[in-house]
Amino acid sequence: MRHPLVIANWKMHGSGAFNQALVEAFLSLLGKHRAECVLCPPFVYLGQLKDLLRSSDVVLGAQDCSHIAQGAYTGEVSAQMLSDCGCQWVIVGHSERRQYHQESDALVAAKLSMAQRAGLSPVLCVGETQEQREAGEAQGVVKSQLLGALGDLPDLQGLAIAYEPVWAIGTGLTASPEQAQDMHAFIRGVVSDLDEKNGPALRLLYGGSVKAENAAELFAQADIDGALVGGASLDAQAFAAIVSAA
Ligand code: PGA
Repeated sequence: MRHPLVIANWKMHGSGAFNQALVEAFLSLLGKHRAECVLCPPFVYLGQLKDLLRSSDVVLGAQDCSHIAQGAYTGEVSAQMLSDCGCQWVIVGHSERRQYHQESDALVAAKLSMAQRAGLSPVLCVGETQEQREAGEAQGVVKSQLLGALGDLPDLQGLAIAYEPVWAIGTGLTASPEQAQDMHAFIRGVVSDLDEKNGPALRLLYGGSVKAENAAELFAQADIDGALVGGASLDAQAFAAIVSAA
């Protein structure tokens, strides 16, 4: 039985006052829940969230990490620094990083290995664009992202994978539960071939316009073990409802 996992990706949103109000409201609305829950604020707010989450079972993650351990890399933040700040998780290879920062599969692979070395659990994001889906290339694109990022890792233990079709991110369009399930089953096959021992147990999250209204239907699919949530994670009520649904 895979333990449900719901991760909030705040992206570049928040302020000291907004974060405090959001986290306090979210924790007060969050009832009994089975899912493991992770909040990923911008780097500069990790310390603030660590304090706000101190007496809860909600844990801290980051949205990215460097592919280098340390050195003269202005503006970079290493996986070890994230661990030092209390992070347990880190998102790697988000489509916005791939699109706006030209992150290649090789770079994503290096970040994953840094995250594992620092003892963080990485969430690898994969997903096709609208054009790729329409051209019938969705599975091929996702497979090559998986192999490019995971091919050289010694094992996949502790990793989670988020399937986020680029056309569903922040657009209000969600993959249908069947479309999402089909791709999740495909991903599970690919990771099980890569790592027979850990592949079948990896948690596969769906991401792309997950809301309180569509979460339960997505989570009811056999290979969907949780969600990576952007926009709706900035709304305490919506995010609490999503975590409870998992
Ligand atoms: P969204 O973002 O929920 O706003 O679509 C998801 C993500 O990009 O992780």
